[in-house]
Amino acid sequence: MAQNWNSASWRQMPGLQMPAFPDAAALAKTEDRLASFPPLVFAGEARRLREDLARVCKGEAFLLQGGDCAESFAEHGADNIRDFFRAFLQMAVVLTFGASKPVVKVGRIAGQFAKPRSSDNETQGDVTLPSYRGDIINGIDFDEGSRIPDPERQIMAYRQSAATLNLIRAFASGGYADLNQVHEWTLDFVKNSPQAEKYEELASRITETLDFMRAVGMNPENNPKLRETDFYTSHEALLLGYEQALTREDSLTGEHYATSGHMIWIGDRTRQPDHAHVEYFRGIQNPIGLKCGPSMTADGLLELIDILSPENDPGRLTLICRFGHDKVADHLPALVRAVEKEGRNVIWSCDPMHGNTISANGYKTRPFDRVMGEVNGFFDVHEEEGTIPGGVHIEMTGQNVTECTGGARAISDDDLGSRYHTHCDPRLNADQSIELAFLVADRLKRMHRASNGSRVAA
Ligand code: PEP
Ligand code: CO
Repeated sequence: MAQNWNSASWRQMPGLQMPAFPDAAALAKTEDRLASFPPLVFAGEARRLREDLARVCKGEAFLLQGGDCAESFAEHGADNIRDFFRAFLQMAVVLTFGASKPVVKVGRIAGQFAKPRSSDNETQGDVTLPSYRGDIINGIDFDEGSRIPDPERQIMAYRQSAATLNLIRAFASGGYADLNQVHEWTLDFVKNSPQAEKYEELASRITETLDFMRAVGMNPENNPKLRETDFYTSHEALLLGYEQALTREDSLTGEHYATSGHMIWIGDRTRQPDHAHVEYFRGIQNPIGLKCGPSMTADGLLELIDILSPENDPGRLTLICRFGHDKVADHLPALVRAVEKEGRNVIWSCDPMHGNTISANGYKTRPFDRVMGEVNGFFDVHEEEGTIPGGVHIEMTGQNVTECTGGARAISDDDLGSRYHTHCDPRLNADQSIELAFLVADRLKRMHRASNGSRVAA
């Protein structure tokens, strides 16, 4: 149990990126209501994810984390969730095949609502209003009323998270994730793309393997692993009042868990060691993530690891690196070396999105070749240092959006306007996500071969 910690101790520290709510009494009332609601996830599940992530830390599994930049109230629907789940499963299958390892599946979903912003205000023409901070806080419409933080939105976000999680649990265990369905996961708009062809080839090999396994007596009926999957939820725990209200003491261990999602992370803008977010995170026992951008120093990182993972437990802390395609080779090696030298157990994950955002035609976008470039740079560093590239963290959707440029279908700057739906950062569409999964799979295969080769040579 963390010393001098309780679920409200963060309130004594400065907290960034959390807006002032104009009606403090209404906020307190909302937080009380949330505190009386059932947890969204339970401690045992978070512990199981920690165990799965401990395997990632040791190189025995690979982490795939992804989903919306920001979930929205407007886009909440069954088709959206299903299409995301399909694209995600396809990526996971591609990676499992490439890595010959289990893939730990963690969605940015069922709670990914609150957003840090680079500016407190947004100006359009001669009007300046407070920035949009995610549907859990205020509205995206550019009018004064929408931008006022409204506590009632936290209740709506909680209820949406519960409904999303419910459907995902059903998909994960109710037959949708059955490996025999591997051919059915391809979304209509992805069919006929180069990715789909490659994927079909791989799916056929899986089907052949399943036929063989069935012939020797292993089938989905007697082997649940073939018909269901473990799928976990995660989000940036930015709005600490909401998180506190959903923090619960586990009756089995007496420890505290965030029950708003299985895994939560600290954003790159809110990771100051003596501030509110780090204070909250140090006391909860979930697996946690820490975003590391270009301003992270080796000493700063070690200090944060001391606070956040004092027991050095291998599944506790995932470092989600987001430097930019042109910066990863400069920044990552020093961090990796410092952590190795001090013998700290962390998972290294690559977020190739947040360091590669540019503006084109008035839209925020991410060129796909830069996204791929950062992934390659991340793997290069780990190959050189002999450390483990544990996972990838991406912003993606199952929808046919045009938000990131490039990819096999070569989305251009001029295409951005046609299907640009994100409430915050540009996401990879299903095509681009699968293309990225094939790249990561190739890198993992290469490492797998190299390590098998060295074993044979030794
Ligand atoms: C995000 O993951 O959406 C995000 C805001 O990232 P970062 O904290 O790395 O900027
Ligand atoms: Co984002």
